[in-house]
Amino acid sequence: MDQTVVGDELKDLWDTVGWCVVDGVIPPDDLAAAQQDLPDLFPTAQEFAEDKDPERNLPFRTASDAVLPRFPFASAALNHLVLHDAIIDLAERFLGTADIRLYQGMVSAKYSNGAPDYEQLLHADYANHTLVVPRSDPGYQQIEMFIYLSDVTAETAATRIVSRPLTQDIPVERTYLALDEYADLYAAEEPASGPAGSVLVYRPDVYHRGTRLTAKEAARYLLHVAYKPLGADWLGYQSWPAAAEGLAWNRFMKRATVRQLTMLGFPEPGHRYWTEETLAGVAARYPLLDMTPWRDQMGQRR
Ligand SMILES: [Fe+2]
Repeated sequence: MDQTVVGDELKDLWDTVGWCVVDGVIPPDDLAAAQQDLPDLFPTAQEFAEDKDPERNLPFRTASDAVLPRFPFASAALNHLVLHDAIIDLAERFLGTADIRLYQGMVSAKYSNGAPDYEQLLHADYANHTLVVPRSDPGYQQIEMFIYLSDVTAETAATRIVSRPLTQDIPVERTYLALDEYADLYAAEEPASGPAGSVLVYRPDVYHRGTRLTAKEAARYLLHVAYKPLGADWLGYQSWPAAAEGLAWNRFMKRATVRQLTMLGFPEPGHRYWTEETLAGVAARYPLLDMTPWRDQMGQRR
């Protein structure tokens, strides 16, 4: 994606209201490949509605984030979307810097018919994405994204969002907004609707809330992806090394690009970490990773 796709209009929305839905970010083939892998992870809308496999459905009858599959996934197609060039381009554009890192990658499903009550209070996400409070200038700002894997409408649980100008006077430490005290903001919320392949981007200081599906026998699938600037150690959610012993990580490494690995904190080609010894060791750890880009830049260390 270049700047003509995320034009000035969307960037202005990001800077002023704090969120927008960007259409057509994920190319159709990449979207279809990811959608094809979803039934391995989640019941389909029909399977859930008919309760074909009650034991499998059980975790999805709770609203807990603890059951959400996390990157690296067994699905190469889902991994590819979390670190898709179009997603990285988009994050760089909104954050105003190319020095960024992935800090969250999860996939979720929501259902109608017998699902839990997904209705949330309006809240800001920063409370569990940073140790401090958000700053909204380049080098400090983080970006949260929902990559829509199914069409998302007001009836299929589009996140409800309140634009920043309406909430700018709320004290920053107030991360949850009570229904009675902020009834005007609940009345002003907008559904972040968009077709599959579009991406909701929002700042962690934007008040929003999850809702239930009102459509019958429906499901909503999306990837939760977040990026932060390099060096902002107070921002985070997941740890990649903690997953690096697993089969999914080792499968991911077979196809990973230099750009994708850099987003995960893997030392870039030319980084001072690389020596003859570490190069040989990493090549032995990941026999199918093509180390050529790292080997080629051994003479140009930073
Ligand atoms: Fe949230």
